[in-house]
Amino acid sequence: MSSNLDLSAFHVSTRSVAPTPAPTQPRRPWIEHWIDTVRDLSSLKATHPMMDAVIDEVDGRMIRIGDRWLADFASCNYLGFDLDREIIDAVPAYLDAWGTHPSWSRLLGSPRLYEDIEERVTELVGSEDALVLPTITHIHMSVIPLLAASGTIFLDQRAHKTIYDGCQVARSRGAAVRRFRFEDPDHLDELLRAERDPTRLICMDGVNSMTGNAPDIRAFAAVAREHGALLYVDDAHGFGVIGERAPDETSIYGKRGNSVVRHFDESYENIILVGGFSKAYSSLLAFLACPTEVKDLLKVAAPPYLYSGPSPVASLATVLAGFDVNERRGDELRRALAGLTRRVLDCLERLDVATPNTSGFPIIEIPLRDHTRIAEVGNFLYDRGIYVTLAAYPLVPKDEVGFRVQLTAANTEAEVDALNAVLAELVDRGELRRASEGPLHGAVIG
Ligand SMILES: Cc1ncc(COP(=O)(O)O)c(C=O)c1O
Repeated sequence: MSSNLDLSAFHVSTRSVAPTPAPTQPRRPWIEHWIDTVRDLSSLKATHPMMDAVIDEVDGRMIRIGDRWLADFASCNYLGFDLDREIIDAVPAYLDAWGTHPSWSRLLGSPRLYEDIEERVTELVGSEDALVLPTITHIHMSVIPLLAASGTIFLDQRAHKTIYDGCQVARSRGAAVRRFRFEDPDHLDELLRAERDPTRLICMDGVNSMTGNAPDIRAFAAVAREHGALLYVDDAHGFGVIGERAPDETSIYGKRGNSVVRHFDESYENIILVGGFSKAYSSLLAFLACPTEVKDLLKVAAPPYLYSGPSPVASLATVLAGFDVNERRGDELRRALAGLTRRVLDCLERLDVATPNTSGFPIIEIPLRDHTRIAEVGNFLYDRGIYVTLAAYPLVPKDEVGFRVQLTAANTEAEVDALNAVLAELVDRGELRRASEGPLHGAVIG
């Protein structure tokens, strides 16, 4: 019997399999290989209350799982827009006007709301133009291969998995991929200097989803321009949180939440910025800030614009209402968010706990002293009413296993104090790495 499944891709040999004693359960090498690869994560998922959880109820940033209430530090709703009464109340009028879902592909037709969003995001980030698509993942998978064509991609060694996957698609269409060291513009410069291919695309993150730090965009932009390369930056976690600096800013995050390029006072020359509304704006939409020429090309060449279903009207509504709230109250919310984050970072400093976060931005990764203790530490946090993201192997390398704390403007000081008390208990138990023991091996991946 022939099969069109290419099992060689899964590194499994089907030739040397011994006769199967019990024919009732046929071998399934493709799934067995993957089960083996993700065994640690899979067993954690099956047994740990902080994995694959069913959330029964929310009350502010408290969540109920079964009969237990926990303070949520795993949400990416940085500005608290998911709970904002003004935004919630704005939705029904949009549903009345447009129905629940514009079920055309964007090429076929888009409600005017899309034009409004593209105009407003263009004005906010200060780019030449912008295109919106349902998610950043859609953008990476379709746009990276188009921008790279059959040229060379220079990929940040620790780029987010969705960027990496976009580069894999590009590779399958003829692009070459080279990796440069994380946060190392000099290494990128070296690779570009040695490269003869004239088509060069650099792909990297803005605010890193695990370290919470931003790359030195000025240095990377300078390298890109010097070598005639295009710099493609995914600022999923920075958009809405950080923005342009100004003397009257309410916090070190800057003003307006208009993302990493503006935060570093850079222009968009040779830069394409990707951002999403699914984190700080609590919606389901993403954008690409780019020249109009690129936008026009993507409208006929990027498959999600041509073939994918669009975002629901409620998501378009919450983006538009989110712009209004961001304009009027965003900087106050960022001030509160920066304050809550500082409260945790000060506590970690007092406790001499290591974290890669040096920025003060609201993503705080806390690595464990012993990676095999992830389940126990997770249970300890859970039992004390603290909900975080477990950074288990293989999501991160074994020496970087730990947990990620994210703050949002909807968290309260009381919730943060409860978190800090539990962190002190973990220190007493010797579970966390000491900052005074020296720097971490490197930043953890997103
Ligand atoms: C850096 C980064 N890029 C992309 C994504 C995926 O975004 P989306 O849900 O819009 O596809 C995430 C989600 O966690 C992310 O952290």
